[in-house]
Amino acid sequence: MKEKINNKHDDIEQAACCGCAQTNQNHGTDSKRRNLLKYLALAIPAVNCFTGNTALAAIKKKSPESKLPPQVGDRFTYFSKRLQGPLIKISDLAESDKQLLVVPVDPKTGEVRDGSRYNQILIQKLSKESLSTETQQMSADGIVAYSAICTHAGCPVTGWVEEEENYMCPCHQSVFNPKEGGGVVSGPAPRKLPALALAAENDELVVAAEFNSWIGFGKPPR
Ligand code: FES
Repeated sequence: MKEKINNKHDDIEQAACCGCAQTNQNHGTDSKRRNLLKYLALAIPAVNCFTGNTALAAIKKKSPESKLPPQVGDRFTYFSKRLQGPLIKISDLAESDKQLLVVPVDPKTGEVRDGSRYNQILIQKLSKESLSTETQQMSADGIVAYSAICTHAGCPVTGWVEEEENYMCPCHQSVFNPKEGGGVVSGPAPRKLPALALAAENDELVVAAEFNSWIGFGKPPR
C-alpha cells in the first residue's frame, strides 16, 4: 500500500515537470495517453482550487447592495446555498408546507441580499380565510412573510408547531402566530415578528413595502 502511494506521488511529480512531458512525446500513443491522464489528474484539483478561491472571494467581497434590507420590487430565492438561484414562484408554495427560509434578490442585477443575517425571511402559504384582516392585507395569495430573526435574542425562528400552525424559536421557545401578524403566543419574545408586505406579479412573489417594524432584538435602532 505504501509503495502504491509513493508511485502515485512520483506520477504527480513527473507530470508537474514540463521537461518530462516533452520527453514522453517520443514514447508513442500509450505514453501520450499516460501524460494526458497525468495532466488531467493535476488539472482537476487545480480547477477546483481556482473555483473554490473565486467563490471564497465572492463571499468575502459582498457588495453593499447585498446587505440592504429587502427593497420594494425585490424577489426571493432560497436561503440555503445549495438551493439558491431560482426565484421563488407563488406556484412553488403549497398550503401544506411549513415556513420556508428565504432571502431577497434584486431582480435587475440578480444580487442576492444575503450579506446580512437580518435579511433572513420566513415565507409561508396559508389559507386566506385563516388570516387576520391585517395579515391578509400584507399577504399575496395567502402567502405571508416575516423576519426570521427572533425579537427575544436574535436566533433564527426555524421551528414549526404543527398542531397550532405556529412558528417556534428553538433558543427559548418563543411561539409566534403567522396568521395574526406574527404576534407572540408564548415565550420571552417581547414583540411580534416584523412583517413584510407582499404582492404577486406573474407568479413571482414581490416585496411590496418595507418591514412594518424594526428587525432584530434589544433596543430599537436610533
Ligand atoms: S432567541 Fe428566540 S426565544 Fe430567545
